[in-house]
Amino acid sequence: MKLCVALDLPTAKENLNLAKMLKNENIWLKVGLRSYIRDGNFFIEELKQISTNFKLFLDLKIYDIPNTMADASESIAKLGVDMFNIHASSGKKAMVTVMNRLSQIKSPPMVLAVTALTSFDETSFSAVYEKSIEKKATQFAIDAYQSGLNGVVCSVYESRVIKEKTTQNFLTLTPGIRPFGEETQDQKRVGTLKTAKDEMSDFIVVGRPIYEANDPLGITKRILENI
Ligand code: C5P
Repeated sequence: MKLCVALDLPTAKENLNLAKMLKNENIWLKVGLRSYIRDGNFFIEELKQISTNFKLFLDLKIYDIPNTMADASESIAKLGVDMFNIHASSGKKAMVTVMNRLSQIKSPPMVLAVTALTSFDETSFSAVYEKSIEKKATQFAIDAYQSGLNGVVCSVYESRVIKEKTTQNFLTLTPGIRPFGEETQDQKRVGTLKTAKDEMSDFIVVGRPIYEANDPLGITKRILENI
């Protein structure tokens, strides 16, 4: 299991300071929409220069017509990030087109599919997708697997079922982790490190429990010792 630290601080400077603090650790860093739109490729380059230990996950949740998604994926691959994500609801044709385009590139990044956004409740989800979250999220995961993606972003409580319906090697990246039972804040279905292990999560995403801690390096080391 790998630790992916969410760089969700309000400014590039604060995110870079956090990365500098963690530079000796073997971790993944998650760069989201806000940072990427504001700080762009320069920010990605700066992260890479802080440490070669870092692996980068660009969390842009791409969704468009297949050819546009493939073009965007090719550009993302050229940034030299290690993983990015696309929406499974863009459809199998879009996912296959993305993977075909990336297959023409040397050492392409891994691609994960977003299944159901956790901001949906059952009512708002079925207004868009006309199915229950569980049914549709599992179907999206199967679609992503059949389209050749490397894995999915999902709740820690869906990880095991998704692996059972695809293969053990199909990656699951699970946000909403409170490693040692910290405050849940606005997260709904949170799990601890133990839950993540039991549910066979491949990547845990941890943001606030690290960057809001008094000692972000200390808690990061403690997480790494326990995974
Ligand atoms: O601070 P916290 O650990 O709750 O941050 C979790 C990170 O994972 C945030 O960047 C959040 O946007 C992201 N995320 C999530 N739930 C999802 C998908 C992404 O919390 N379903």
